Amino acid sequence: MKVIILKDAAAVAAYGANIFKKQLQKKPDSVLGLATGSTPVALYKELIKLSEAKEFSFAGVTTFNLDEYLGLDGEHPQSYRYFMNEQLFNHVDIDKSKTQVPPGNAQDPVAACNDYEADIDAAGGIDIQLLGIGRNGHIGFNEPSSSLASRTRVKTLTLDTINDNSRFFADGEYQPHLSITMGIGTILESKKVVLLATGASKADAIAATVEGPLTAACPASALQLHQDAVIIIDEEAASRL
Ligand code: GLP
Repeated sequence: MKVIILKDAAAVAAYGANIFKKQLQKKPDSVLGLATGSTPVALYKELIKLSEAKEFSFAGVTTFNLDEYLGLDGEHPQSYRYFMNEQLFNHVDIDKSKTQVPPGNAQDPVAACNDYEADIDAAGGIDIQLLGIGRNGHIGFNEPSSSLASRTRVKTLTLDTINDNSRFFADGEYQPHLSITMGIGTILESKKVVLLATGASKADAIAATVEGPLTAACPASALQLHQDAVIIIDEEAASRL
């Protein structure tokens, strides 16, 4: 595990974007694993700028997002599909038919999870997986106690995560308690993993991820097993290391 500590969130986004730039210059038909949450937004802005400057193109890229709320379809403003369209896909030359987000409106969510795994395999696996981290150490929606070998599946959200993410929902708006998420085993199969974290609220989770024991109590600690995991954090997120 490589840990890169930078001054602030802007530096984290720029450093992360540069990794994606190099990947897309080297392999224009890369398979990217993408993430939601507030942390990757600045990185997506950088990628939009770089693609506008013709540093690389998204035309050949395939993407798989980590997770989605179960019960929200892609038109719902709080869905992760909607988020990805707004934050990245609508602004770059990507073929949207090659962008996949787990289907939050699946009639048969269990079958949809198996299909998602098969689609990742059929695409040749993920070249780089981008991750944020929850304050409780979750990656994707793999909450504490998730099996370290887990695959894409339906996962119940913890109260901590529901509360943390309630800021995105209006008062009284329905907020799902279930998700579809890639598993920790799925994430570990990506050829490279890039985790971004900024701010003091992530400091405990980062300390547990980097210096704690390998444990399902901190799902991100599973990245200690990955041969090419890069943790890019600002000074605040690094403050408990
Ligand atoms: C959600 C997402 C995670 C993300 C986390 C942290 O729970 N499922 O993928 O890492 O939020 O989000 P933020 O970056 O907003 O702190």
